[in-house]
Amino acid sequence: MTIVRHFLRSGFDLVETLLGKVFPPSWNPMLNLGALGFFFYWIITVSGIYVYIFFDTGVHNAYESIEYMTHEQWYLAGIMRSLHRYASDALIVVMMLHLVREFARDRYRGVRWFSWVTGTPIMVMVFVAGISGYWLVWDKLAQYVAIVSTEWLDMLPIFGEPIARNFLSPEALESRFFTLMIFMHIAIPLIALAILWIHLQRVTKPRINPPRGLALSVFAGLIGLSLVHPALSQAPADLAVVPGRVGLDWFYLPLFPLLETLPGSVTWGMSACLLLIMIAMPWLPPMKRARPAVVDLDNCNGCARCFNDCPYNAIAMVARSDGAAFEREPIVNPSYCVSCGLCAGSCPTSMPFRRLSDLSPGIDLPDHTMAQLRDQVEMAALGLTGAARIMVFGCDTGPALAKVRSSSVATVSLACIGQLPPAFIDYVVNRDLADGVMLTGCRENSCNARYGIEWTNQRLARVRDPQLRNRVPRERIKTAWVGPSGVPALQAALSKFASELKNAPTISKLKPPADIAPKPREPVDA
Ligand code: HEM
Ligand code: SF4
Ligand code: SF4
Repeated sequence: MTIVRHFLRSGFDLVETLLGKVFPPSWNPMLNLGALGFFFYWIITVSGIYVYIFFDTGVHNAYESIEYMTHEQWYLAGIMRSLHRYASDALIVVMMLHLVREFARDRYRGVRWFSWVTGTPIMVMVFVAGISGYWLVWDKLAQYVAIVSTEWLDMLPIFGEPIARNFLSPEALESRFFTLMIFMHIAIPLIALAILWIHLQRVTKPRINPPRGLALSVFAGLIGLSLVHPALSQAPADLAVVPGRVGLDWFYLPLFPLLETLPGSVTWGMSACLLLIMIAMPWLPPMKRARPAVVDLDNCNGCARCFNDCPYNAIAMVARSDGAAFEREPIVNPSYCVSCGLCAGSCPTSMPFRRLSDLSPGIDLPDHTMAQLRDQVEMAALGLTGAARIMVFGCDTGPALAKVRSSSVATVSLACIGQLPPAFIDYVVNRDLADGVMLTGCRENSCNARYGIEWTNQRLARVRDPQLRNRVPRERIKTAWVGPSGVPALQAALSKFASELKNAPTISKLKPPADIAPKPREPVDA
C-alpha cells in the first residue's frame, strides 16, 4: 500500500508541477478538486432544472422533447443539455482524481477515516445518478443501459418480480416506471448533497468554491465545448428491436461491457469486495498514529487562537473548569485531532525565549513538543558556519530536508510548517543562531494539514496572530512552498537567499535572555 501511495503521490506531484507552470498557484485545478466537484454540482443542478422545463416525462414523448431542445432550441435549452452532460462527466473526473489524491496523500487513515468513509456513498450515488440520467433520453443507448442495469439488478432477489420485464416489449414499459426513473435521477443527487454536507463536518472552513478565475475559465470551457460539440442523442429506443451496437459514455458506463459479459455472481462479488475494501481502507495496516494535542490549562489564557486555527474542528472552547480568571478553555477532541500542531503554532505561550520556566505552551503535541523544537533548533544551529548561515524549517510531508543540509544550512522538520510559532523565527534571527530563516513545506494551497501554509503566510505578513514581531527584518526570512519533489527548487531558493544575506544590512542582536513568564493568575475563589 505504501509503495502504491508513494508512486501515486509522485505522479500527482509531477502533474501539479506541470499545471503550476500554466496556472497561478491558487488556480491549479489539481489543488481545487473538491471545490471543482461542488462547482460542477451547481452547474448540473441549474442546467438540470432548466432542461426539466422542456422535458416530457412520459416514455412516449421523452425522446422528442429532448430532440426539440437539442435542435430547435439549441441556443439555450440545447446548450443547457450539453452543460448538464459535460458538467456531469467533469464531476466524475474531478471526484475520482480527488479520491485517488486523498489516498496518495495518506489523508484517509486514522482520525481522517470520516471524510473517506462518507465519500464512498457519494461516489456510488454520483455514478447511479449519472447512469439513471442516460435512461431519460430514451434513445438506443438508454435502452441498452436500461436493459443491462435491470438485468444486473434482477440477479439479486430484491424485487418482487424482475424489473427487466419492463423492457421486453414496447407495451410492457409504462410511463409510471419512467417517472420513477426521473424521481431517482433527482432524489439521488439530493441525498448525495446531504451526505456531502456530512462529508465536510470534520474539516473547518472547507474550500467549496474554486477561485473565481478558475471557475470562470472552466465554465467558459464547458460553454465552448457545448457549442462546438453539442450533446446529441442516438437513434430512438425501440423495444421491439435489440439495441445492437451503441456508442458508450466512458465516464459513467465503462463497466457496462463487463456487466454484460461476466456472470452476475462475479460482477456482484467484485463490486461488493471493492466497496468493502474501500470502506475498510482507513483501518488497514500499517497503522501509526501520533498522539493528539494536549491542553495545559496552567499556561492557557483562553484566547481561542488554537480554536480559530485548528483545520479539523478538533478544538471546542468551553467554560473554564480550573477556577482561573478566564472565561473559557479549549478542549481537544482526540478522535478529530490529526496531530498537525497548528494549534501549538498559534498559541501565544509557545515562546522559545522563556528560560526560567519550562517551555510548556497552553497546547502542545506530546510527540513533537515546543521544548523539543527549541532544543532541535539550538542543536542544529551549533554546527553552522559561513557568512550566510540559514536555518530551514520544513515539514514531514514537504521536500526531503536531508538533501539540502550543509555546513551553512541547518534543517528542522515539524509536523506541519503551521506548527512553527513566529517567535521561533525571531529567536533564531535575534539570538544569532542563523543569519536567515527559510520556511518550506507542501505546495501552496496544497498543505497536508489544509491551512498550515496559509496561516504561516498570514503570520509573517502580520495579519494573523501570533504575528511576526516587527523587530525581525523581513528580508531575513524566505518561503519556498515547493512540495515533496521540490528539492531542486529549494536548493535554488537557498543559493539565491545565501547571496542576498551576504549583502543584507546587519541587525542589532537582542540583549541577554529575558524570561517571559506565564500570565499571573487571579486569586481563585474558595
Ligand atoms: C462529488 C464528490 C465530492 C466532493 C464535491 C468532495 C468535496 C470535498 C471537499 C470540498 C473537501 C474539503 C477539502 C478542503 O477544504 O481541504 C473534501 C475532503 C475530503 N474528501 Fe471529498 N468530495 C467528494 C467525494 C469524495 C470521495 C468519493 C472521497 C473518497 C472516498 C472523498 C474523500 C475525501 C477526504 C478523505 C477528504 C478529507 C481530506 C482531509 O483530511 O483534509 N471525497 N471533499
Ligand atoms: S494538532 Fe491540529 S488537528 Fe489537533 S487540535 Fe491541534 S490544530 Fe487541531
Ligand atoms: S491558543 Fe493557547 S492560550 Fe489561547 S486558548 Fe489555545 S491553548 Fe489557550
